[in-house]
Amino acid sequence: MSGDSIESVLQESRLFPPPASFSAQARVGSMAAYEALAARAAAEPERFWAEIASELTWAEPWKRVLEWDLPDAKWFVGGRTNVSVNCLDRHLAGPRRNKAALLFEGEPGDTRVYTYHQLHREVCKAANALDELGIRAGDFVAIYMPMIPEAVIAMLACARIGAPHTVVFGGFSAEALADRIKDSRARLVITADGGWRRGAIVPLKDNVDKALEEVDVEKVLVVRRTGGDFSWKSHRDVWWHEAVDKASPVHEAPALDAEHPLFSLYTSGTTGKPKGILHTTGGYQVGAYYTTRMVFDLRDEDVFWCTADIGWVTGHSYVVYGPLMNGATVVMYEGAPNQPGPDRFWDIIARWGVTVFYTAPTAIRAFMRWGDEHPAKHDLSSLRLLGSVGEPINPEAWMWYRRVIGGDRCPIVDTWWQTETGAIMISPLPGATPTKPGSATRPLPGIAADVVKKDGTPCKANEGGFLVVKRPWPSMLRTIFGDHERYTKTYFGDIPGCYFAGDGARKDEDGYFWIMGRVDDVINVAGHRLSTMEVESALVSHPKVAEAAVVGRPDELKGQAIVAFVTPKGGITADDALARELRQHVVEQIGALARPEEIRFADALPKTRSGKIMRRLLREVASGSTARGDTTTLEDNAVLEKLAQSYQQEE
Ligand code: PRX
Repeated sequence: MSGDSIESVLQESRLFPPPASFSAQARVGSMAAYEALAARAAAEPERFWAEIASELTWAEPWKRVLEWDLPDAKWFVGGRTNVSVNCLDRHLAGPRRNKAALLFEGEPGDTRVYTYHQLHREVCKAANALDELGIRAGDFVAIYMPMIPEAVIAMLACARIGAPHTVVFGGFSAEALADRIKDSRARLVITADGGWRRGAIVPLKDNVDKALEEVDVEKVLVVRRTGGDFSWKSHRDVWWHEAVDKASPVHEAPALDAEHPLFSLYTSGTTGKPKGILHTTGGYQVGAYYTTRMVFDLRDEDVFWCTADIGWVTGHSYVVYGPLMNGATVVMYEGAPNQPGPDRFWDIIARWGVTVFYTAPTAIRAFMRWGDEHPAKHDLSSLRLLGSVGEPINPEAWMWYRRVIGGDRCPIVDTWWQTETGAIMISPLPGATPTKPGSATRPLPGIAADVVKKDGTPCKANEGGFLVVKRPWPSMLRTIFGDHERYTKTYFGDIPGCYFAGDGARKDEDGYFWIMGRVDDVINVAGHRLSTMEVESALVSHPKVAEAAVVGRPDELKGQAIVAFVTPKGGITADDALARELRQHVVEQIGALARPEEIRFADALPKTRSGKIMRRLLREVASGSTARGDTTTLEDNAVLEKLAQSYQQEE
């Protein structure tokens, strides 16, 4: 690395102040302004959120800002609104009408541009088509799509008619899709014949057909994307272009109750069964709108590119809802970052003139490995702000991102949040907050985040503890779909009076948060959240497996890698062929993102006297041979291990 070695950055605990030119125009341009805003929000939270909410369009005003009866929150009670109206119709009266809303680029290089006016027409047509298919407010719709404009149109059309969507990441297997369709009781699936990934077709429609052998839906709406072969079920399948193209572009959006469900999104918890995190209309829209505006300090000239797939919450809040509510121009890219070459992202940034770029540390570490010559080939001078999300970013990757991609000119916002929080919770404000590599810095104004001990008392500076939120916020999840008890127990059952997020953290002497990772059995592999139990269930569903235990071990590229300890059934030979078979089985059960990096066979798994698998021991065994990253990570690992023990109370 040139100039800034990791050691020097850490020793000096280097602060990077926001560039003066940035602060001069920013909405919040100094720490004093941040402190004042945060203090006002803390003193009068309801008033603070109501002011933000009133920047959006409401068909009927709310009667009460908040009803809070722990763990149940209702926001903007009695208000009626429509998120699709706030994303689209709201912009049609002024100069944004003819501004680009979506700049789409497919992996093969095809492009499409939609202005706000055009996107509104398409969404209205799709809303009418859904209506024609018999989908009504309250009916769930599963979306299993590549990153193409129709995915955004489908989400907004569902939101428009009040049919909550459940987007399932296109990398999930047919089996995982079936589980999600079943749990959400979706009546319709919207998919495509396939999508492009690394020059190959992802067979989405085939996967849907396979999933629907296990669970029934009334209709499947199919977008033509690749033109590949697949089987057509005429009683059930409907072409998108036939249903949508003939539909009317005029659609009166209903005024929905603020607490009307907007979407559910499945995410991994500590059990084998993913949870349907439910978000509702009014609060979510306020959270997504506010955080996009504050964290990315968006202005009308910006070209905003969040690289997340819409199958994750980041894609929901920062590809679709947040930027569109702010009237931004959004870049959407379908495929892999190294197709056709390792410079694809930099080429996209240069050609579309991206100004704000938001991606994950895993991607940044891969770019580092691929080499500086790839970004160097392209003009990245349009960039003015960089973001990071999804996992802790190691200082080395942070410094590389700042220097090589940001030209030492762009502030970096390292944003901490979760599927459950709906929107960013802890992040620098780019015109105000001096940043420290590896820290998500301070909570956004309005967010009462803290680091506490198990009994809820605050930790001292630099003492490791549990990351909690002490007051409700508008975009918080409302429940786990179909299991409210699990919601209460999971999020409010551990630390008195607080929402507990599952992460360990410490706050330094400046009140900056340093996220250390999960203390539960959730692992983060390449920014993808997985439960060790989920992978274990997949493994033990294989007929040759007697028992399995899965842990994460630190991985330089992916953050964490999956290591599975497997005891085969009696008489089964543990060899490479079996390991391959088991890996493939996990891919079929969950998806390629859950493929174990390593499978270690064992005659028996270490257990406590009461029969619990000693994961701590397995984590140590799994990590033993790995070279670890920089020193902070090492120290944090030890603290985190202790926290995890106290959280899980292993014998
Ligand atoms: O452990 C934290 C990590 O990702 C988890 C949330 O995962 P998910 O619900 O899939 O949402 C990811 C995108 C918001 C958290 O519990 N995480 C997320 N952002 C950060 C992070 N860890 C450290 N730093 C972050 N900026």
